[in-house]
Amino acid sequence: MKIKVLITGGLGFIFSHVTEYFVSKGYDVVVIDNETVGSHPEIIDGSFTYFKDDVFSKESYDFIVKHNPDYIIHAAAISDVDFSIQNPNETIYKNNQSIVNVFEAARKCSNLKKLVYISTDEVYGECEYRKQETDIIFPKNPYACSKAFGSLLRITYDNTYPELKDKTAETRFCNVFGERQDDRKIMSAIKESILNDKIIPIHNGGKGSREYIYIGNIPEAVELVMLKGNRVYNITLNDSYTVTELIDKVQQVTSKKVNTVESQRSGMDLKYQMDNSRILELGWKPKFTFEEGIKKYYEII
Ligand SMILES: NC(=O)c1ccc[n+]([C@@H]2O[C@H](COP(=O)([O-])OP(=O)(O)OC[C@H]3O[C@@H](n4cnc5c(N)ncnc54)[C@H](O)[C@@H]3O)[C@@H](O)[C@H]2O)c1
Repeated sequence: MKIKVLITGGLGFIFSHVTEYFVSKGYDVVVIDNETVGSHPEIIDGSFTYFKDDVFSKESYDFIVKHNPDYIIHAAAISDVDFSIQNPNETIYKNNQSIVNVFEAARKCSNLKKLVYISTDEVYGECEYRKQETDIIFPKNPYACSKAFGSLLRITYDNTYPELKDKTAETRFCNVFGERQDDRKIMSAIKESILNDKIIPIHNGGKGSREYIYIGNIPEAVELVMLKGNRVYNITLNDSYTVTELIDKVQQVTSKKVNTVESQRSGMDLKYQMDNSRILELGWKPKFTFEEGIKKYYEII
């Protein structure tokens, strides 16, 4: 019998790639997604079971329990920092209710081997040095706070409920870029600017420094954590750029001009950086370097 993997947010930028990868590997894939911002319903082709709903609904809870999957990957979230700053109530309510609903449903899944919670480097807050998974989390915007809630709840559920003991793991990605990302994120905004002469807002003088990773590296990292992980794993290759440096780099690779306008983001962390030794020790072998990733991403230009 096929191994059943249930993915929440499986139509989104990152997890549409994960959904397709898992289907191609022969897993029995089940997706819940509410088809809001970032979703790609065009990937629905009958190769996986699909349920359109909010993950925080009673119907989604019943659906997860009914499917009784071997693995659950909880990725669905409102993932836009600027939106979260404008709408903290909605972001925190929906993201956190979704997390609790998935963990509660997981407790009722007798076949469950692992629940993987998908989180972000943003939970660390300002990173003066490369943060390790054992470092304190210190989220500093509503989106990061809503994600950090899941990081805490995972520990709580793993510790409190014997049915989830040693059956949870978490990934913290740096900034992922690649095909299907919408232009709320910097890499795709830069691409929009190049292709359609769009002027893109650059927060706080372009000084924000982030680590970037190409989407092609993510599906296998998620599968590895799902099959072998039992704690938190930072996912990064430590390719670190300020937004200004990133724009220079893309202009250099594409020989095209990126048009920008100054903007301000309140409470923005200046730098995220993470230590990746733990995921490498688990056996992660990334397929694409940053350079290869940007060449693939911009090759249509
Ligand atoms: N993009 C990044 O660089 C990055 C970095 C670190 C972590 N992450 C995390 O990875 C995950 C995916 O990020 P992404 O950039 O692909 O996001 P995305 O916004 O492109 O996709 C999110 C998907 O989840 C769905 N969704 C959102 N809320 C939902 C809900 N309540 N119920 C059902 N479906 C819902 C949306 O319809 C969409 O298909 C998120 O958990 C995010 O926090 C992303």
